[in-house]
Amino acid sequence: MSNEVKFRAPKVRPYFDRLKDHWRWNMKSLLRPGGALHQRVNGKVILLTGASSGIGEQVAGRLADAGATVLLVARNRDKLDTIATAIRQRGGRAFIYPGDLSDLEQCDRICEQALEEHGRVDILINNAGRSIRRSIKFTYQRFHDYERTLQLNYLASIRLAMNLLPGMEARNEGHIINVSTVGVQANPARFSAYLASKWALEGWTWVAANEFAHTGVRFSSLNYPLVRTPMIAPTKIYKYMPVMSPETAVNWMLDVIITQNKRKLGVFGKGALAMYYLLPKTSESIVNVSYQSLYEAPPANYVSSKVRAGRAANSAEAPARQRHKR
Ligand SMILES: NC(=O)c1ccc[n+]([C@@H]2O[C@H](COP(=O)([O-])OP(=O)(O)OC[C@H]3O[C@@H](n4cnc5c(N)ncnc54)[C@H](OP(=O)(O)O)[C@@H]3O)[C@@H](O)[C@H]2O)c1
Repeated sequence: MSNEVKFRAPKVRPYFDRLKDHWRWNMKSLLRPGGALHQRVNGKVILLTGASSGIGEQVAGRLADAGATVLLVARNRDKLDTIATAIRQRGGRAFIYPGDLSDLEQCDRICEQALEEHGRVDILINNAGRSIRRSIKFTYQRFHDYERTLQLNYLASIRLAMNLLPGMEARNEGHIINVSTVGVQANPARFSAYLASKWALEGWTWVAANEFAHTGVRFSSLNYPLVRTPMIAPTKIYKYMPVMSPETAVNWMLDVIITQNKRKLGVFGKGALAMYYLLPKTSESIVNVSYQSLYEAPPANYVSSKVRAGRAANSAEAPARQRHKR
């Protein structure tokens, strides 16, 4: 960082244009969402990660039907092929970019290929994600839980953005949408690895939004509640809980694309946020009661705190016993 202090006159006119745009597009999204989506994405190139399943799969179809060229990214080539073929049969434009985003070189390769073949990417949707549900105490021997979530949910998203932002900046136009979760506001137990990675992603999003506010590049974050997709299928208790439908989740995403609003957050998320600021210890107790009430099977190699305490006591006593023997 340079120590030299130099001032420049900031550009403030873009704020007024933005304000006008904000209300114009929010009204359009409210009154005529279909037409607004077409106006926003027709002819645009959209790179969508996590396009082979769940929310991403359905968003891909809706964007292509609205006239966008969609570049579909995920690991499963066959699934991407099936989705792209269905889009093309309806007259849409879809191209597949299979790859494992946990590998940063593959992120670079996908972006290079996309830019070479399409000239630009107008909208980047970082939707691929992995969730891990496990208590911190069961993670002592599983540091890789933190590495895996950070690698995909945070580092891969940022790597794609680093490849595509320069073009957006040069064109003074672009939109990066980072998919997050309401867990960032509610901090539910057992999601430390997943939520830490989404917090990181949101932190980056807010700083980027502040830095680019005077330009035509926008950043948004979507804080989904639980959505009925393959991601939550392994957790049996979610079968009995009221969760968001994939159709509503898709409409949330399309609304963010149209309005370019900074955050999409439901009533529950806003309530949780207010509770944490106004009554932090009460919020903690509420989450803790629900944490304690649900049994979680420990992993095979887990050593309980009682056993650990016993071992520690034995090793502390050992020298005394040895002295006694002598
Ligand atoms: N479902 C929920 O309750 C919920 C709640 C809050 C937030 N979200 C967020 O919403 C987003 C979409 O989730 P979803 O519910 O639609 O989940 P999903 O059905 O499990 O889809 C996840 C997508 O990510 C892709 N993916 C996973 N690992 C990848 C990797 N290493 N490289 C490339 N692609 C990878 C998967 O494709 P491949 O397996 O083919 O690679 C798949 O297309 C995620 O960011 C998630 O965190 C979901």
